[in-house]
Amino acid sequence: MSKLWGGRFTKDTNELVEEFTASIEFDQQLAIEDIEGSLAHVQMLGECNIISSEDADVIQRGLYKLKNKIELGGIEYSVANEDIHMNIEKHLIDEIGPIGGKLHTGRSRNDQVATDMHLFLKRKTVELISLVDDVQQAILNQAKANVETILPGYTHLQRAQPISFGHHLMAYFWMLERDKERLIDSMKRIDVLPLGAGALAGTTFSINRERVAELLGFDSIYPNSIDAVSDRDFILEFLSISSIMMTHISRLSEEMVIWSSEEFNFIELDDSFCTGSSIMPQKKNPDVPELLRAKTGRTYGNLIGLLTVLKGLPLAYNKDMQEDKEGMFDTVKTVEGTLKLLAPMIDSMTVNHNSMKKAVTEDYSNATDLADYLVTKGMPFREAHAVIGQIVLQAIQEKKYLLDIEYAVYRGYSDLFEEDLYDVLKPENVVAARDSTGGTAQKQVRKQIELAETKILKK
Ligand code: ARG
Repeated sequence: MSKLWGGRFTKDTNELVEEFTASIEFDQQLAIEDIEGSLAHVQMLGECNIISSEDADVIQRGLYKLKNKIELGGIEYSVANEDIHMNIEKHLIDEIGPIGGKLHTGRSRNDQVATDMHLFLKRKTVELISLVDDVQQAILNQAKANVETILPGYTHLQRAQPISFGHHLMAYFWMLERDKERLIDSMKRIDVLPLGAGALAGTTFSINRERVAELLGFDSIYPNSIDAVSDRDFILEFLSISSIMMTHISRLSEEMVIWSSEEFNFIELDDSFCTGSSIMPQKKNPDVPELLRAKTGRTYGNLIGLLTVLKGLPLAYNKDMQEDKEGMFDTVKTVEGTLKLLAPMIDSMTVNHNSMKKAVTEDYSNATDLADYLVTKGMPFREAHAVIGQIVLQAIQEKKYLLDIEYAVYRGYSDLFEEDLYDVLKPENVVAARDSTGGTAQKQVRKQIELAETKILKK
């Protein structure tokens, strides 16, 4: 088959080389973006009298026809035509004849592919922002229902201090809020048009790049043609934002796995989000959060992969840059699938209030409050810490909790203790007492939830 670039060649491409260098297998996902970019480019060529407006019309009609065909079930792609750009150009020429060959005037695949990627990521980023918003809403719903639900908070996975379950869940809301902000902010750098940069140096034709930007809905254009075709920061940034977001989701997933174990029994995932065992009839496995946790790995891999591809490249375009695509597609697909599952999984989980309550009653996570109590009565904190430490030790030895120890025993340790110490130790009061801004007190959590409601984009 004759190549679009075959003029200076005397031999056919080695078959293995053809297959090895082709990107059509994966960049066909850019078909619609590629046609949109071409439609705008050819319109501008016509308007600027670089080609006749009649020719521009014919080409546009041909492109629309192709777009239709693709949307209705696809067109045939061939490895011999290497990538989506040349496949579509070839189809266009087959469709409308040699006039189709005017489409590539004043353009290179280098600015074309970059434009396609910008268009693709722009569309996907908008979708992902909305999906993050859905997960935040699901978290918010559960948090609202669980402001009063108390469970042990952990540090080092050792019981630390009682907290509101709503407060714990809201921590993830704010992580995702930062992820959402990052996605929104990254739009500034995605929303820039490379087209018109040519191969690297611009073009001899008097094109109008601003017009193309306007037609495609880009906010601005690259001011430097070399940067325009060499820049993949916007993809790196997307991969990096996604990796950070997946880290958050992985931590939440890990907690869901732990919480749904029989040992914790804090939550139960809905049956529709779990799977069984082929051998053990009693099993209900949290496969979904496990896989979300695991899929985080591939998003890191895609980020590191592209960083490594780019790090040694001289300006401007190098074929290496074709390797930017599969990782990006994979991360888009991974994050999209993750967010779509996460929202309903959070919404449908059952919270086991009793197990949480039991956990928080049968532990020493109220010890800090007793130390703080002595401090309010005048004892220096360090001294109070030591006194309560001794009381906890005695309680452990006697297999008791702090609420079970007799008043006389407390008085033996310090005459600053009074009967009200037992109120201080109750889990609800322990939580309510952490009333500092951003703390776990029910009042503070409600305030936090009010603020969070203002961050939801979809009303
Ligand atoms: N398939 C190529 C890529 O994805 C398109 C750009 C090719 N440009 C070139 N000069 N070979 O990067």
